[in-house]
Amino acid sequence: MKNIKAISEILSEWIASEFGRTYADVDHDFSAIQAVATANADFGDFQCNDSMQLAKILRKSPRDIAQAVVDDIQLHESVDKVEIAGAGFINMYLKPEWIASYIEGLGADENLGVPHIGEGHTIVIDYSSPNVAKPMHIGHIRSTIIGCAIDKMFRKLGYNVISDNHIGDWGTQFGIIIKGYREFVDKDALAKSPIEELERVYVKSYEKTQEDEGWLTGCRDELVKLQSGDSDNLELWGEFIKMSLVEFDKIYKRLGVGFDYMRGESFYREKLPGVVKMLEEKGLAEESDGATVVFLEEEKLPVCIVRKSDGGYNYATSDIATVLHRTEEFKPDRIIYVTDERQQLHFNQFFTICGKIGCEVKLDHVWFGLMRLPEGTFSTREGNVIKLEALLDEAESRALKIVQGSSPDMTEDQQKKVARAVGIGAVKYADLSQNPQTTVTFTWEKAMATDGNSGPYLQYAYARIQSVRDKYKEQFPDGDADSCSIVFTEPVERVLALKLTQFSEVVVRAAHSYKPSTVADYLYELAQTYSSFHQNVPFLKAEEGLRESRIRLCGITARVLKAGLDLLGIETPERI
Ligand code: ARG
Repeated sequence: MKNIKAISEILSEWIASEFGRTYADVDHDFSAIQAVATANADFGDFQCNDSMQLAKILRKSPRDIAQAVVDDIQLHESVDKVEIAGAGFINMYLKPEWIASYIEGLGADENLGVPHIGEGHTIVIDYSSPNVAKPMHIGHIRSTIIGCAIDKMFRKLGYNVISDNHIGDWGTQFGIIIKGYREFVDKDALAKSPIEELERVYVKSYEKTQEDEGWLTGCRDELVKLQSGDSDNLELWGEFIKMSLVEFDKIYKRLGVGFDYMRGESFYREKLPGVVKMLEEKGLAEESDGATVVFLEEEKLPVCIVRKSDGGYNYATSDIATVLHRTEEFKPDRIIYVTDERQQLHFNQFFTICGKIGCEVKLDHVWFGLMRLPEGTFSTREGNVIKLEALLDEAESRALKIVQGSSPDMTEDQQKKVARAVGIGAVKYADLSQNPQTTVTFTWEKAMATDGNSGPYLQYAYARIQSVRDKYKEQFPDGDADSCSIVFTEPVERVLALKLTQFSEVVVRAAHSYKPSTVADYLYELAQTYSSFHQNVPFLKAEEGLRESRIRLCGITARVLKAGLDLLGIETPERI
């Protein structure tokens, strides 16, 4: 597959070489000079503002620097004219027929210009990763939604992506649950709502460990039995996992998320002693108060315990084993972990240890802050355990009202199907459209707003375009808009076309910065631009040729909206 170069890249290469030619006698590398899209058409389509930084190097005023380049310029085939503005900006105006032919090329590309830059590279993404016998908390939900979007973006760029749901299915909590389960499980409650009952059992048993020494020892014994292969305990443990997976799967189905692997921590359990031994042999781990630890003083990090004084292994040990295993099996270029902000220290510590043992794979932790949810979705005890089912139910019922209002003639089944897509889409978009590292408050008004920056707004924009295209097909059954030339007569058409050409760069930027919100911001701007096109320019009533050009632009816009929303895991119903 041949990648289509982004316009900014084409123009950057050109303007950099123009600088190089003008200042050929200066010993400086001009190749980093850039052309960036302008936010305001008054400043041209693209702009170069590097003259400011060059002032020191060239010992001239930015304006003089720009002037010399412009005086001597050999225009690129795409450029109509350049102008100097302000303190020394070079504004570039593109030829409309060049933009038209570029956008026709994009339209003909099934990937809409998104380059396959990832070919030959493997990325493992570790996300969702809830803990067995505990409900998913808001951190796991966000990890699922954000992780899935990052996963899709890298796949779109042609990377070989391996998604792995690193379930927490091994660890000290099992001693506490097993003992508690034996003592006070309520079988009826367990049948009705397994995770809630297991969590109740866990909490009760945990509380007892705090006040009852004997109980604590009992829990430890159960854990030791489990870890040394006691068949009763292993069986119970297996049951807990099964029950949890059933519950997790319900959520994944509803969210439309799937994984290549669901390897829990237990998958690596036999490798833990080897990890500690290796760390000792390399002189990285040492004994301290009966435990085995890695000191990370030089890195100004707290000490990391890799084996506790009771012989148990830690989260970090398990994660080091996991990196080693993944590196060997998948040979990835990088591994990305998506969790909430509370795990930053853990990742910092074990990434540092991986570096010390010579792991070459790039390790990145993508973290996000908390999201405040509407009243009633918090459980009283933990504060951040949401009843996701209830949240999604409410989203769907709110969406159903919207759909019933906008499409009263749809069958009830169809309405429900669309409402599902709109409701889930609204929740996902509310999450993904935010900068992940800030605390955001979820409100229904914002999430469901059909006239603001929301999932439903974008889905509406898509459906509205599809209906224009349907009407065109109805009125002009012989028309073939998608093979007619694109022409610009109104300024907004050109603005829309240029916006569409930015999609590919947006995907690259969003993926590499791990920020799905970059895609969301772009889609919102695109939908707004489309909306002003839709409101101000006649489509079906326009003369032949112009009409086809506009319908074709509509078609490309719809495809970009669909592809972009798909990256966010949001469906695009044809009608709402
Ligand atoms: N199960 C962990 C938790 O809920 C998250 C695991 C993240 N992945 C990892 N490889 N550590 O806190």
